[in-house]
Amino acid sequence: MSSENKNKNRAFITGVTGQDGSYLADLLLAKDYEVHGLVRRSSSFNRERLEHIYKDAQSTENIFLHYGDLTDSSSLARLIEKINPDEIYHLGAQSHVRVSFDVPVYTAEATAVSTIRLLEAIRETRIKTKFYQASSSEMFGRVREVPQRETTPFYPRSPYAAAKVYAYWAAVNYREAYDMFVCNGILFNHESPRRGESFVTRKITIGIADILAGSKDKLYLGNLEARRDWGYAPEYVEAMWLMMQQERGDDYVIATGETHSIREFLDVAFDLAGIKDWRQYVEIDPRYYRPTEVDILLGDASKAREKLGWQPRTSFPELVKIMLEADCKSLGVQLVSTERREQIGVGCADIDEKAKLYVNDVLNNERLSHGPYSLRLENEFAKLHACSSALLVNSGTSALQLAVAALKQVYNWQDNEEILCPAVTFVASANVILMNNLKPVFVDVSEQSYNIDPAQIERHITEKTKAIMVVHLFGQPADMDPIIEIAKKYNLKIIEDSCETMFVKYKGRPVGSFGEISCFSTYMAHLITTGVGGLVCTSNSVHAETLKSLANHGRDSIYLQIDDDKNLSAERLEQTVARRFKFIQLGHSFRLTEMEAALGVAQLERKDEILEKRRENAQYLIEGLGPLQAELQLPSWPAYCEHAFMMFPLVIKKESTVQKKDLVMHLEKHNIETREMLPLTNQPFYEKMYGDLESRYPVARWINNNGFYIGCHQKLFRGDLDYIIKCFHNFFL
Ligand code: NAP
Ligand code: GDD
Repeated sequence: MSSENKNKNRAFITGVTGQDGSYLADLLLAKDYEVHGLVRRSSSFNRERLEHIYKDAQSTENIFLHYGDLTDSSSLARLIEKINPDEIYHLGAQSHVRVSFDVPVYTAEATAVSTIRLLEAIRETRIKTKFYQASSSEMFGRVREVPQRETTPFYPRSPYAAAKVYAYWAAVNYREAYDMFVCNGILFNHESPRRGESFVTRKITIGIADILAGSKDKLYLGNLEARRDWGYAPEYVEAMWLMMQQERGDDYVIATGETHSIREFLDVAFDLAGIKDWRQYVEIDPRYYRPTEVDILLGDASKAREKLGWQPRTSFPELVKIMLEADCKSLGVQLVSTERREQIGVGCADIDEKAKLYVNDVLNNERLSHGPYSLRLENEFAKLHACSSALLVNSGTSALQLAVAALKQVYNWQDNEEILCPAVTFVASANVILMNNLKPVFVDVSEQSYNIDPAQIERHITEKTKAIMVVHLFGQPADMDPIIEIAKKYNLKIIEDSCETMFVKYKGRPVGSFGEISCFSTYMAHLITTGVGGLVCTSNSVHAETLKSLANHGRDSIYLQIDDDKNLSAERLEQTVARRFKFIQLGHSFRLTEMEAALGVAQLERKDEILEKRRENAQYLIEGLGPLQAELQLPSWPAYCEHAFMMFPLVIKKESTVQKKDLVMHLEKHNIETREMLPLTNQPFYEKMYGDLESRYPVARWINNNGFYIGCHQKLFRGDLDYIIKCFHNFFL
């Protein structure tokens, strides 16, 4: 004890490492007490609930922990004499009812006899102190009346309850026999995020968080019919303190006056998690039954309200929410309720702390354009896609624009020559062809993959055809083998528009490595994001130089490369200074900033995790929507290629009578975002240029009339996916 602390109230708490003890320590420290706590030695760490206290310098000065054990009389007496407390809160106990059937004698020692040990120590040392006994509603057991109040007779139903009855009467007896200030707080169940993990409420909220995180499938419980009066623990420790500030020691019931079954707790908690039917996640395990059960507890706290001015403030649903949110937060799971206010979007911003750190690093280092992060992103991205170089640009569209421009220049294509491109793709794939004064010629797509249909390609080839723009849509690679064969036969170049697909392989070879040039997008909601941005990759050094120059105002790319070289010879330096701002052709300004690249590097570091979660989510949706397969075409892909699940496409089958408009509206009304699959054949701009396209591209028309996509991104958790699945099933009921 420091000399400054001499005038402070001093409290001694047994069970300070438990739920109530830790909240009480918080409360007393806030009231400027000097707090002493009893901790028992344990091989593993048992002070988690007190960790936050040690982050606050002032609190640290006022808390003192002492080793001891409730079963060891001498240590308790010694501590009481040494601390000389004004108030003793005896909260320590073997507090688990089910466990007390397994260790009844130990429970009697720790829960019953410990009270006598402390009371005797007070009596023998003659210390003037107040004493709080943590009594329990379990003492009412097989209840004699409902609700239970201070005068209700006890009928204990477990070794734990019997121990608490013993301790209760010991406390009353010492008050009466020795005129000591002793209170019994007869507290009904009270819970919180600090509740022990084997008590039913916490077991449920942790279990749900695990289910949402995908780390567990089931929750095993015992009797679901028992009813408890559940309150919020921080409010209950306030009641303890209030009891100790009265003129005389007395006994008080502390309760909410509401009772709920375990079933009702499950209803509220799973509902908050967006899971309507908890029965599929909960299994009964008879091991959790108790030989004798307490069926109903309901407290009447009128006396506490009148004498202490205490009443509960947190409602039952609020309590469940506080606990579930805390457990979800600690597992990094986002909680969404079935009464959805937030939309389930097709994409997400998934920026972690590392990304913020990297971006900050750039800002601190003040190198804001192409720097070390850009270089790292380019090198690693190129390697992952089996290309020898990658160039960061400010969008996927810029990447495409450059790819077409570079090839047009290198191969000397003439204006109005043609490039084949799928009839279903984002409009940028075709736009960039036009912007380079070439003509996009559409090819219908496959009914399964929605990618360009190799069987349709040859009939669109003319002597003006120069290239095939292959698009890997929604995360699924196009069928490259037959496309490569056709390209060889007609001497066509391949450009890969892989804006929606990265990090996946077709027959063991990475997408992006098939074309002369391949293009990727890091736009928001793509597999990795830099906000807006893109990469253009190639293994051809001439293309690489051309791309670099075109992206940077047409500068001489040789001097772009040596800009950063610190070890230039004097002659080379002179040459560089003279030539580095020479523009050898017409070019764009398509560069990406270093901040965006830093974001991209952080995202790239997480690519496996992102991809795995998307695949897991897609698989879960496929299984959940499986029963609707007669009506809906779900994503399917051949075993020889991987899927990155940038999106989750769905098309209403031809034989279904369902209207797309109705299904989409149903989903949107339930806050599930949908997007068109974007066939080019019904875009007003292209219709104006080419006339009626729909009749010429039947698969694209079918997709336009019946297809849409939803998200399956990495931030959707089980509750979201169950909610999506449920909404689909409700529609088709
Ligand atoms: P808890 O979280 O289980 O905490 C029990 C505390 O007792 C822990 O700090 C534990 O230390 C300590 N302890 C157990 N055996 C000990 C021993 N032999 N020597 C020293 N310390 C020992 O319980 P709680 O929920 O905070 O409840 C506090 C008290 O109120 C208990 O007496 C309980 O029976 C009673 N009560 C609780 C409720 C309720 O709903 N929570 C209702 C009525 C009454 P470790 O951390 O090392 O395990
Ligand atoms: N623990 C637990 N685990 N209880 C289950 C489970 C399970 O898997 N399944 C059903 N239950 C039922 C129990 O049978 C009991 O009827 C009810 O859920 C509540 O159990 P607990 O949360 O373990 O609390 P308790 O009421 O037995 O005891 C708690 O409250 C008492 C106050 O009434 C403890 O904190 C005691 O220390 C406290 O005195």
